[in-house]
Amino acid sequence: MHSMTWDKNCLTLLNQTKLPGRVEYIRCSDYQTVAEAIRRLEVRGAPAIGAAAAYGLVIGARQLAEGSGDFWSGLMKIVQELKATRPTAVNLFWALDRMAGVAGRYRQSDVQTLLAALEQEAIAIAQEDRTVNSRIAANGAALFDQPLAVLTHCNAGALATVGFGTALGVIRQAWADGNITRVFADETRPLLQGARLTAWELMQEQIPVTLITDSMAGWVMKQRKIQAVIVGADRVTLNGDVANKIGTYSVAVLAKEHGIPFYVAAPASTFDFTMHSGDAIPIEERQADEITTIGGVRIAPAEVEVFNPAFDVTPHALVSALITEYGVLRAPYAPAITKIQQQLRGEQ
Ligand code: MRU
Repeated sequence: MHSMTWDKNCLTLLNQTKLPGRVEYIRCSDYQTVAEAIRRLEVRGAPAIGAAAAYGLVIGARQLAEGSGDFWSGLMKIVQELKATRPTAVNLFWALDRMAGVAGRYRQSDVQTLLAALEQEAIAIAQEDRTVNSRIAANGAALFDQPLAVLTHCNAGALATVGFGTALGVIRQAWADGNITRVFADETRPLLQGARLTAWELMQEQIPVTLITDSMAGWVMKQRKIQAVIVGADRVTLNGDVANKIGTYSVAVLAKEHGIPFYVAAPASTFDFTMHSGDAIPIEERQADEITTIGGVRIAPAEVEVFNPAFDVTPHALVSALITEYGVLRAPYAPAITKIQQQLRGEQ
C-alpha cells in the first residue's frame, strides 16, 4: 500500500478519507487538487503531506509554464497556497522551502531545466523519506530487546509517509525481530485515524492489533496490558516538545503516571530548528462537524459550541526518547537536536 505514486505527469493519492471501506485514488493533474487533498486529509500525516506538496509544486510549475502569466510570481504564489493548507506539520513548510530553494537556484535557467530540477527534487524528497523510515525503524527497534505490547495513537504508518512509517515502522521492525506481542491502537477521535488507518495497516501485515477508544488508554495501562507507547510527530521543537495528533498529550501524561516509556519516532524533517519551545507551535483548529457528526450522522445538538484542535503539544519532560534517523535522542534534548541541525548543515 502506498500513500502516493508519481508517474511523471500526475500524482496519484490514495484517498485516506475513504479507508478502510473503499480503496479509491485521486489523480492530481493540477496543484489545486493536491492542495484540496491536503486540506481534506485525503493525504495526511506529516511526511506524506510534505512530499505531496512538493509534487503539487511540480504540477503547479508545469501549469504556469503552459500559461502566459509571470512564471516566478506565479510559482511563489503556489508555494504560499500550498503552505496555507495545514499549519502544524512542519514537513509541509520544510518540503516547500526546499523546493523553493531549488527553484531559486534555477531561476535564470530556461523553464524546462527548472521544471526538471523541481521534479528531481520532489522525487528526492519522497525517496529520502523511504530511506529515513528504514533508519528510524532500525534505531527504534533496537530499544526493544524482549517481547512486549505497545500502544500507539493516530496513524504514523505507511499511509502517513512515503515509505512504511515512523512509529509504525519501528513497530513493524520490532515485530519482525520478535519483540512485539500486540499493538493497542487508540481510535483517535474525531477523525479516527487509529480505527480506520492504523488498525487496517497492521491487520494487512498480520500484526496483532487491538482497537480501543481513546478514553480506554489509561485503563489499558493500569491493567499492565502495554509496556511502551510509541507515536509519531508533526513538529518537534529545539527543546524536544512534540506536537502530534490531539490526544497524544493525554497518552503521555497517562504513561508517566504508570511508569511506561513514551517514545516519539520522527525524521529530521519534522524538527523545527527555528522554534525553541512547543508553546510557539501553531495548532490547527478544524471545523465543528468533525465532532458533531460521525459518518455524516449528527450526534450532538446542531448549535452546540465546539472546540476542535487537531493537535496538542507534549512537553519534552514526558518524552522518554526521540527516535530519529540519526539515532535515539535522550534528554536533555536541546544539545542532541542542535547536533542534528549541525550535521544537516554539514551535509548541505
Ligand atoms: O491530522 P493528521 O492525520 O495529518 O495527523 C497525523 C499525525 O498526527 C501523525 O501522528 C503525524 O503526522 C506523524 S506521521 C508519521
